[in-house]
Amino acid sequence: MSVTAVVGAQWGDEGKGRIIDYLAQQADVVIRFQGGDNAGHTVINQYGKHALHLIPSGIFNPATQNIIGSGCVINPQSLLNEMNSLREAGVNLDNLWISTRAQMVMPYHRTLDELEELARGKDTIGTTKRGIGPAYADKSARSGLRIGDLLQPEWLESRLDNALRTVNRKLEILGGDTLDGREVFSLLMDYRASLGGRIVDTVPIIRRSLEIGADILLEGQLGVMRDLDWGIYPYVTSSNPTASYASSGAGLPARTIDRVIGVVKAYSTAVGDGPFPTELFDADGQKLREVGQEFGATTGRPRRCGWFDGVAIGYAAWLNGMTGLAITKLDILDHFETIKICTGYRLPSGEIITDSMPDTPVLYNVTPVYESWDGWLTSTENCRSWDDLPKQARSYIHRLAELANVRVEYVSVGPEREQMFAV
Ligand code: GDP
Ligand code: IMO
Ligand code: MG
Repeated sequence: MSVTAVVGAQWGDEGKGRIIDYLAQQADVVIRFQGGDNAGHTVINQYGKHALHLIPSGIFNPATQNIIGSGCVINPQSLLNEMNSLREAGVNLDNLWISTRAQMVMPYHRTLDELEELARGKDTIGTTKRGIGPAYADKSARSGLRIGDLLQPEWLESRLDNALRTVNRKLEILGGDTLDGREVFSLLMDYRASLGGRIVDTVPIIRRSLEIGADILLEGQLGVMRDLDWGIYPYVTSSNPTASYASSGAGLPARTIDRVIGVVKAYSTAVGDGPFPTELFDADGQKLREVGQEFGATTGRPRRCGWFDGVAIGYAAWLNGMTGLAITKLDILDHFETIKICTGYRLPSGEIITDSMPDTPVLYNVTPVYESWDGWLTSTENCRSWDDLPKQARSYIHRLAELANVRVEYVSVGPEREQMFAV
């Protein structure tokens, strides 16, 4: 039995979805513990290619219970769309459950996300415009609606009335259309009809699973550099993708987590605004984007690309208490004669830092210090074990592990389920 948190170790899109899909072949339960449909977790397997937004990436194993945890914010319409597309692909959804305590992303949260970004002028965050920030803000302000409220119509109606009093004022100020409570309520009743049977108190399920020694995976969204507390604030999401939040967002005791796998790309990418020290604006950056097909799974935006950031991985590994690394997209580097790794940040004063993460305004002004590695210039796509990898690729991976001070447990060399192996 084990409880394993799988978390993003960089700026998001590290390949968490495909790692969960792989590990879920042996898992009894998978729980998404934070975020909403801002996620795009790509999985490629016998059911085709799917970019999952809310549904845990263990859904393709009919023997795995998949839970959307209380730390998530759920847009019911988006969830229904995702369920339809999986059903059409022949995926069984009998094993999908939603925590009563998860918050709802309401249609007005998306509107507010757009209007708030507009109001920021040139200082945008570059959000996915999925209403994530406004939904978590309402959660903290205690004016959020929870998905379990759908099961209590009278309570829901009064909660909605309460929320709309403030929401309509905000919409007026920001230049949006105000909302009619009855129309919103009727939409919510439609969601109750479609989703009601899956909305449950998930604590008994998880408690029982722990008692019988089940294997549980906790699926994170985004990565540490966009964590609300520990990322590049304010260019962050509004929840905590680090492992410390996994127990709370999933709904199990913190001490039950015994493994933390940090998912890390063999280079760096980011979507959205904010400092990104190793970003490349040259031909190598362009090549990483093209060969790596680095376009957002949710918004289609081109991802910013750069070399591997060894300072960020050290920070991410420590903060998450990682017990192992899963390195993805090694195959993209097959095409580079020289590969660089950032091992330190040079501050404007000349000082070089290697073992701490400067705060946002400082991070904008650091210059990465690089070391250069010879590429292997041979395809790794068909490698299925550590020994199959070219010698230079093994040395490169060793260096990443050294910078993280964590051992490598998995390597992937292509997007398909089979293109991954344990080390
Ligand atoms: P997530 O949000 O962390 O699940 O990652 P995304 O799905 O947003 O982005 C990862 C992208 O890389 C997806 O398009 C995956 O299909 C793809 N991918 C994942 N691992 C590999 C790999 O090892 N090699 C290649 N070529 N593509 C990969
Ligand atoms: P997965 O789970 C990459 C980024 C946005 C923006 C910031 C805040 O697929 O790794 P938000 O909409 O959350 O308020 O946006 O976070 N962002 C992501 N970047 N992958 C994601 O998810 C992301 N979810 C949000 O671009 O910079
Ligand atoms: Mg993604």
